[in-house]
Amino acid sequence: MKLYSNIKGKCALSAILVAAIFNLSIGQSFLKDEFKSHFLIGTAVNTATVTGQDAKATKIVKEHFNSITAENDMKWIHIHPELNTYNFKQADQFVEFGLKNNMFIIGHALIWHHQMDNKAFFDNDKKLLSRDAMLTRMRDHIFTVMGRYKGKVHGWDVVNEALADDGSLKKTKWLETIGDDFICKAFEYAQEADPNAELYYNDYSLEFPAKRDAVVRLVKKLQAKKIRIDAVGIQGHWGLDFPNKEELDAFIDSIAALGVKVMITEMDVDLLPRSFEYMGADISVNAELQKELNPFVSGLPDSMQYKLADRYAELFSQLITHKEKISRVTIWGVYDKISWLNYWPIQGRTNYPLLFDRNYQPKPAFDAVIKTARIKK
Ligand code: XIL
Repeated sequence: MKLYSNIKGKCALSAILVAAIFNLSIGQSFLKDEFKSHFLIGTAVNTATVTGQDAKATKIVKEHFNSITAENDMKWIHIHPELNTYNFKQADQFVEFGLKNNMFIIGHALIWHHQMDNKAFFDNDKKLLSRDAMLTRMRDHIFTVMGRYKGKVHGWDVVNEALADDGSLKKTKWLETIGDDFICKAFEYAQEADPNAELYYNDYSLEFPAKRDAVVRLVKKLQAKKIRIDAVGIQGHWGLDFPNKEELDAFIDSIAALGVKVMITEMDVDLLPRSFEYMGADISVNAELQKELNPFVSGLPDSMQYKLADRYAELFSQLITHKEKISRVTIWGVYDKISWLNYWPIQGRTNYPLLFDRNYQPKPAFDAVIKTARIKK
């Protein structure tokens, strides 16, 4: 494996940090040990990983991570596929794996407009439900799912992606049926369902001022109503050139000033070209596959490998600077082959956004992250 120390002067890091990274050799290192004094370090997992079917992925997760998030298995469509039917099989396996390995377990996500059958918003006559009827459905869902894992799942993404880029509430069926206090209601129910679990609001693009200000207003609103919120998760689906440092700093500081923690909940770094200007993570976005948007099908050139490593080092260096305000950083996936960025926002690409490659090997980005954790201790 090529070490990060092969990089020659093409990074955006300060000269001092680069020099320090060059001089370190990492040996056998595990992320969770290196980040012990910084924050929890997590990953998103799927069924094959938690059941041991993808044994090499299982090994990576056990060795390197002390927190796990279910990439899909706790989303409404999977755990609550029909009105009166719950399917807990995969979610149970996920929770069991986390408990067995002493991990901080994250439930993702209770209330979201995606990966949910729209039927849930209608009655048998296909009429949109009233506010009260929808509140009952919301409460039942939250109580059933959180109730089952009470005392086992440590933190929940109570509401996911409710804010639009301009800071308004997204025009979803949640908003349409319940009204603009649907977020407050979800947190109220969650707090009742498991008073000891941490409760989070989670979203992407929160580093942009309009959305940052909106989430600050949201947290203040919850606090004014004495409804508990413990942390705000910024997803962190980032690129080689965004977000910029100032905006990310400003986001972290604004949230911490409210007395709640910041978490990076779904971090990955997309290095493939984009066909349009979009820095969000809305899963309904879909673009057409063109050859020039998929340039690294047969492997990643060293130059790109090191750009990715530099970017990871830069981001982690910034995050560690704020470690008192950050409780967790979760990487969205275990190894490149199973990252969602191979199929979003364009189906069928070969992407390289994570710390372990398609053969389960640590990448230069992994070394860079380890070294950054050590320098910044
Ligand atoms: C993604 C999963 O990674 C994919 O496997 C799935 O097909 C779509 O959802 N924001 C979120 C995550 O909150 O739940 C999404 O996960 C990525 C964007």
